[in-house]
Amino acid sequence: MSDRVSRRGFLAAAGVVGLTAADAAAFGRRRRACLPQPCPPGPWPPPGPGLRVRQNANALTPGQLDSLRRGVAAMKALPDTDPRGWRFQANVHWTTGSPSNPLFNQCQHGTLHFLSWHRAYLYFFERILRAQSGDPTLCLPYWDWAADPALPAAYRLPGDASNPLWHPGRTVNDGSPLQPEDVSGVGGALAATAYPGPFGFNRLLEGNPHGTVHGAVGGDMGSVPTAARDPVFWLHHGNVDRLWDVWLGQGGRANPADAAWLDRTFPFADESGATVQARVGDYMSSARLGYRYDNAPPSGAAVAVATAVAEAAPAPPRVVARSAADGPPEKAESKPLGFAVERVRVKPVDPAARQALDARPAAGAGRVYVRVEGVSAAAAPSGVRYGVYLNAPADALPGPDRLRYHVGTINFFGKTRAELKLPGHGHAGHAGAAGGTFDETFDATAVVARLRQAGRWDPDALDVVIMPVATVPVGGTAEATQGRAAADLKAADVRYQRVSVLQQ
Ligand code: C2O
Repeated sequence: MSDRVSRRGFLAAAGVVGLTAADAAAFGRRRRACLPQPCPPGPWPPPGPGLRVRQNANALTPGQLDSLRRGVAAMKALPDTDPRGWRFQANVHWTTGSPSNPLFNQCQHGTLHFLSWHRAYLYFFERILRAQSGDPTLCLPYWDWAADPALPAAYRLPGDASNPLWHPGRTVNDGSPLQPEDVSGVGGALAATAYPGPFGFNRLLEGNPHGTVHGAVGGDMGSVPTAARDPVFWLHHGNVDRLWDVWLGQGGRANPADAAWLDRTFPFADESGATVQARVGDYMSSARLGYRYDNAPPSGAAVAVATAVAEAAPAPPRVVARSAADGPPEKAESKPLGFAVERVRVKPVDPAARQALDARPAAGAGRVYVRVEGVSAAAAPSGVRYGVYLNAPADALPGPDRLRYHVGTINFFGKTRAELKLPGHGHAGHAGAAGGTFDETFDATAVVARLRQAGRWDPDALDVVIMPVATVPVGGTAEATQGRAAADLKAADVRYQRVSVLQQ
């Protein structure tokens, strides 16, 4: 069943979100790219007066902005084959062709090294950028998207190639804001107490906000092989890295202490163009790397205390309601998702499940999850992601009230059919057997509690809405937004197979 998405947009406030998949299983399946000799540790921190401070991009002085632009322009002027060059650095993340250098195609997504690999990547990129700018005080800035949903002005104005920070093809170059669904996962990720696991910090942060913001910025940023060509990549990952410090700074949180995890090495190029082997354990502390963020405590060496990687996997929740007959999702019919509201009825799988859904859980118990299964896309649709909402009445869509029912956001960053079929690419799902599909599981407990409170929780009348969320151009018409999104979605051929509700 589907209602058209009506005219105006997709605006408003907050929600509780989770992202999932089998992190622990994915860990280790990833291709081992380690090279033999580990990076000699030190000197730590690098020479310099105290800790350098990575600042909010909106707080840079004109002088700092000049240095940043000069550094980016200098890197862009180097040949593509120079390890310090802009394109070479982007290729370290991923390439569109076949990799022509052992340093290429290294990015870690869907694995326990998502945060650690990207921290080391930024660290060496920043050293190159600093050297190229000629300003020994230069630091990478960050974009705090949850606080400032519009792309920082320096990255979009002047809006042409005279500005090294501008990049064509983004949906947010006109200053249009990200949607609440793009950053709704920040609170849930920071609340996670474990680093690993399907609901651990590393995994939650990677989905929403990280992947959703990639999708929302669109253009090159929306797709893994091209993402790091856009200067916004470094600004975006500055904030992801900052949130790692924020997470640890809350206390009661620890990075993995698993020896195999800490001893993994990844190759990067440094500011001299030489290859260095970065050992993950040397990237656990921003203070040890010589920097901190302007509004977060630096993480210190003390944070790496025992959290066994295997320990954090919770008992799997069980399916209590489903949109289609039981069986493997690849047997379920695959349905297209376009620029329309898809409303999916879900029914209790048996009388016991119905009873479990009906029972009021004891305080603190009874987590409920919504899982969209067998999702796939031929390409990442630029600027389009899908919000998932539980029991949202038709009149709440697509206005701001929808956020009361929002459980999570599906993004396609690194998760196209072709990407999921890459050997060793860590995304969980049904890569291989079912041909590049993935599942997303969102924690819906808070939405269920709200529905119960409003007397709107009925196990016999459950539905899940899957709705496109698009960036709305400043001053643009709803028709124009819809037209652009619809064209992108046509090429993306987004599909899903079924929807389940789970309880734990
Ligand atoms: Cu490796 Cu935000 O990407």
